Amino acid sequence: MTFDWMTGPLAEGLHLYNSGEYFTAHEAWETIWLSAPEPERTFLQALIQVTAAFEQSLFWDGRRPSLEAQVLDPIVNANEMGLDSISEAIQRVREAPAYAGALKSAFGNDHVDETRLRTALATFVRSLAPTRTSYERFKRGSSEAFSASAQRGLRLFDGKAGCSSCHSMHDQPARFSDGLFHHGAVSLSSEDTARLPELVSQTISVADDEIGNVIAQNRHIAALGRFVVTHNPKDIGAFRTPSLLNVALTAPYMHDGSVATLEDAVNIEIYYRSLSTGKALDLTTSDRRDIVEFLMSLTSDMWVDSNRP
Ligand code: HEC
Repeated sequence: MTFDWMTGPLAEGLHLYNSGEYFTAHEAWETIWLSAPEPERTFLQALIQVTAAFEQSLFWDGRRPSLEAQVLDPIVNANEMGLDSISEAIQRVREAPAYAGALKSAFGNDHVDETRLRTALATFVRSLAPTRTSYERFKRGSSEAFSASAQRGLRLFDGKAGCSSCHSMHDQPARFSDGLFHHGAVSLSSEDTARLPELVSQTISVADDEIGNVIAQNRHIAALGRFVVTHNPKDIGAFRTPSLLNVALTAPYMHDGSVATLEDAVNIEIYYRSLSTGKALDLTTSDRRDIVEFLMSLTSDMWVDSNRP
């Protein structure tokens, strides 16, 4: 377990806090996400998204109210960075000479504390603004090519297919999430359903500040979704609508990473949304392809630029 992953986001956050500039998102992506061991990625997908800055609550179950509150959680999560405490993180930053200058220019001196770490990392995440997509440019009237297929997909997504009722797109910039919790196609396994009374009482007995670690280590409790926060039985298996910004890059899909491709995710959503409204969505193979094409227009160029060899 190394601590190097923080170098990029933290140093950049400090720099940004000082200057307000943008930077490429590559490091956050690679270090926070891609460095997670495979089983964790598919277990409960990390939710560092470009929309994080705009969300009312973070993580799939909404257990943290603000970005500042959330941003250090991965450091002490046993399945992510696995440090014993935030103080250990502070100590490591203190001992790394590279940060002293950055801290000084951001805050006036090189003192390190929890608030400063939170500010720096949250600033970094906020910098990943969701405005640099070909969809946003198309909306602003850019003459850049936005394929006919993507345009058809947009009309279906916001019309007949009803996707935008949850993946909302009429705010500025569009977040593609209503920030609310819904039941989806991926439901509790039969094993978890059979053990539900036991899982529920186990969950209720966990202290609030321990729930993050418990979820990271116990996929059965994680599968209860929003319930782990509200303890309201109707929230069992409900998850926050994920933003679809950069969705083409964030496979595998759904809260447990059980769906491998974007095409499959779209098909499953169409199927499930038909099922839950009781009205079959009559979408042809080419309609579905158009929706996927539209979703591909939601990739920020920051990712594209930063992933160029
Ligand atoms: C009732 C609200 C609702 C509607 C309507 C809806 N979705 Fe979703 N969508 C969700 C939720 C909630 C999830 C997360 C489910 C989970 O993880 O178990 C999700 C997940 C997804 C994902 C996977 C994203 C990821 O990062 O894992 C895609 C892609 C998606 N939806 C596309 C669509 C499309 C296309 C439509 C229209 C056909 C649609 N959705 C309609 C609520 C909705």
